[in-house]
Amino acid sequence: MDKVRIVLPLVMAFVFAGSPALADKPSVAMGKTLFNNPGLGASQNAISCGTCHANGEGMEKAGANPRLGEMINMCIQGPLKGEALSKKSVAMESLQLYLRSLAQ
Ligand code: HEC
Repeated sequence: MDKVRIVLPLVMAFVFAGSPALADKPSVAMGKTLFNNPGLGASQNAISCGTCHANGEGMEKAGANPRLGEMINMCIQGPLKGEALSKKSVAMESLQLYLRSLAQ
């Protein structure tokens, strides 16, 4: 019983302190996952970025586009019928990292 009282709060503290820290970090891997997720931008339809740009094909030059963020949001609001992502969000930064990684 005493062990539970000590260990449980420690585990909870780790979970609550640790997970936002992980989620706060934009990454190529997260961008790839979001790119293939039909729920991106709170989208309700079954379409993901990958539906049209399968495996990021044809996106090799997109990373150099100075309006990359706007293009991403256009495609979220258009085909996905979702809500635009804020420029500084982890999701937006991850999508940009993923698309830029395709140029290499
Ligand atoms: C219904 C099909 C469709 C879907 C779904 C779609 N796109 Fe697009 N996308 C297009 C078309 C068409 C263009 C303009 C022609 C082109 O550049 O290939 C485009 C252009 C783009 C460009 C600009 C490419 C460049 O070279 O500058 C980016 C970036 C992009 N899309 C990202 C996305 C992302 C991110 C998603 C998911 C949120 C997405 N697209 C979903 C059809 C789609």
